[in-house]
Amino acid sequence: MRTIGLGIDTTFDDTSIAILEGKSKILANLTLSQYKDHEEFGGVVPERASRKHMEVITPLIEEALKQAEIGFQDINYIAVSNQPGLLGAILIGVTVAKTLAYSLKIPLIGVNHVEAHPYANFLTYGHIPFPAIQLVVAGGHTLLFHTKNHFDYEIIGRSVDDAAGECVDKVAKMFGHPMPGGPVIDQYALKFQSDIYDFPRPVLNANNYNFSFSGLKTAMLRFRETNSEKLNEEGPILSSFFQSIVDVLLLKTFKASKALKVKNISVSGGLAASKKLRQSFEEKAKEENVQLYYPPPKLCTDNAAMVTCLAAYKFEANQWDDLNLEVFANLTQ
Ligand code: KG4
Ligand code: ZN
Repeated sequence: MRTIGLGIDTTFDDTSIAILEGKSKILANLTLSQYKDHEEFGGVVPERASRKHMEVITPLIEEALKQAEIGFQDINYIAVSNQPGLLGAILIGVTVAKTLAYSLKIPLIGVNHVEAHPYANFLTYGHIPFPAIQLVVAGGHTLLFHTKNHFDYEIIGRSVDDAAGECVDKVAKMFGHPMPGGPVIDQYALKFQSDIYDFPRPVLNANNYNFSFSGLKTAMLRFRETNSEKLNEEGPILSSFFQSIVDVLLLKTFKASKALKVKNISVSGGLAASKKLRQSFEEKAKEENVQLYYPPPKLCTDNAAMVTCLAAYKFEANQWDDLNLEVFANLTQ
């Protein structure tokens, strides 16, 4: 019998619905981004995000079922991200998920959105050998996992202030680029020399795997104040800035791989869509004789397929939830 899961992700400003067969066959993976709805406010407005999720979630589920050529009766479990993110936004997804699970009399499986990002690589490759060092570079979180098996991992590093994606988006905004700033900065990083300006590589030498990017953001603010005559040539400035981000992510990740003697590295999250980041990680992986895994860009940024994939492993392991599933704005570990 084929097992089919329907997954929902509404943690931030994307409404995403996926339908997955088994652990890696994507039958549908639809994401509606709200970037344009929040543009005039210069950032995501939580209440507006909730309202937008509510508006689009039902039609999106229907569209996903149509694309997957299945009906509600074919679904074996409902997966939903219940953390971390905007509470009001998560609540929409979780309420819809609970209603579906209750009315269809099938299991409900809550998923940690950040823990789900590396599962984009399980979708891409079918399997990744363990142990692995898993770097998640998303908009709101930068995390380094030492993963020994499914559900058996330790978070060995995390952003202590701004996440890498947050820093990239804020710096892009300083230069007048709308959200998300990553793709534009990545284009500059590929086109322009990255060693013209010297931006700090924060906490590179500290004796842990944590990340701190708010100092880099402040360095850019200061640079802009003292170098106003150079700001119309933003290519080399933003390329040098992005090199700092990539250098920190790369050095910490490979440092962990070496120290823990782990030969598999997986990278995921929105920033993993960056060509510059992928190139740098590939070069280093070759040098260090490490196996590198990253998903295609569509599975790097937020999507419900990765959420449903993690839930597929949980479904198999009988890690099911009930209608009391709670929601959390912050990571619970
Ligand atoms: O994983 P994600 O979609 O959302 C969160 O879970 O937060 O990550 C969004 C982040 C943003 O900072 C965005 O600028 C960045 O990923 N991003 C990129 C690219 N696409 C998205 N950064 C660099 N290059 C890209 N192609
Ligand atoms: Zn994410």
